[in-house]
Amino acid sequence: MVLQCHVSRRSEMASKLTPKLFSWLILPTLLLIFLYSLSLPLYAPTSPKPKIPISPSCNLFKGKWVSDPNRRPIYDESCPFHRNAWNCLRNQRENMGRINSWKWMPDKCDLTRIDPVGFLGSMRNKNIGFVGDSLNENFLISFLCTLRVADSSAKKWKRKGAWRGAYFPKFNVTVGYHRAVLLAKYEWQPKQLDDSNQDGLKGRYRVDVDIPADDWAHIGAFYNVLVFNTGHWWGFDKFPKETPLVFYKAGQLIQPPLEMFDGLKVVLENMIAFIEKELPEETLKFWRLQSPRHFQGGDWNQNGSCTVDGPLDELQI
Ligand SMILES: *[C@@H]1O[C@H](CO)[C@@H](O)[C@H](O)[C@H]1NC(C)=O
Ligand SMILES: *[C@@H]1O[C@H](CO)[C@@H](O)[C@H](O)[C@H]1NC(C)=O
Repeated sequence: MVLQCHVSRRSEMASKLTPKLFSWLILPTLLLIFLYSLSLPLYAPTSPKPKIPISPSCNLFKGKWVSDPNRRPIYDESCPFHRNAWNCLRNQRENMGRINSWKWMPDKCDLTRIDPVGFLGSMRNKNIGFVGDSLNENFLISFLCTLRVADSSAKKWKRKGAWRGAYFPKFNVTVGYHRAVLLAKYEWQPKQLDDSNQDGLKGRYRVDVDIPADDWAHIGAFYNVLVFNTGHWWGFDKFPKETPLVFYKAGQLIQPPLEMFDGLKVVLENMIAFIEKELPEETLKFWRLQSPRHFQGGDWNQNGSCTVDGPLDELQI
């Protein structure tokens, strides 16, 4: 897997987070997402078991990153699913050799490299969807480029509501991405007349905690596997006090008004309830956890750069 610099799109750019705010912001998010992820059914009994040559008792999540200087990416800069500004290979980001040398080693077993033919073969006539923010989108791009190794006739795929994706004709597999940065529906509401006494307020983003964003509200029947995430948008860099989030439930403003992180908690509860109730039980569902931004010496617009070429240790997060 390629370690990607999490460079956000201009419209979703963030300002610098102080370390304190950072830990306030990211740690509760991590924890919450982790806790909620425990309540998601991870395995659907009816889906066929993928043939991975590792023992079922091996915990794949316990392990470490090791650098293997001979390791090369499975795809190259010509993959058509890359986005230009994010194509670290073509843009010749420094230290790509080292960045690409990292591989995940579970403690108790040997994780073989992904086998795109085997993977797509086991997913024949099935569809995989990603729902969330650009972290999921970055993962999607690596995934599409990896799978394309098994089917060079892969085509870009686009459908109303889906941000991007690809179709793999040899296997009749679609992999799609639905952009929904907060997962819940949200919309801009300009400042009202009776707001005039609030300093600097330009308007609000109304979040309906119990309504999934239109981009993914009706995708349940199409996908066999879904990967959800949210996290990087729950910050005052994205929604400062001039344009805050306000939370609604059942069409009514929640009173007393929720702070952003309480809003996140309520949104997660409601979105998970929706996923469990409205999406087919046999759909395999995953919740992707958070990873930190890693600009050094400033944020993207403050002369920051992505100089990190290895995993952070726990104390650096
Ligand atoms: C392709 O897969 C879809 C399910 O995603 C299925 O409905 C359709 O029949 C398949 N097409 C072919 C040609 O097998
Ligand atoms: C970024 O660096 C340039 C050149 O060194 C400097 O002029 C500018 O003020 C810096 N900007 C910030 C936001 O630090």
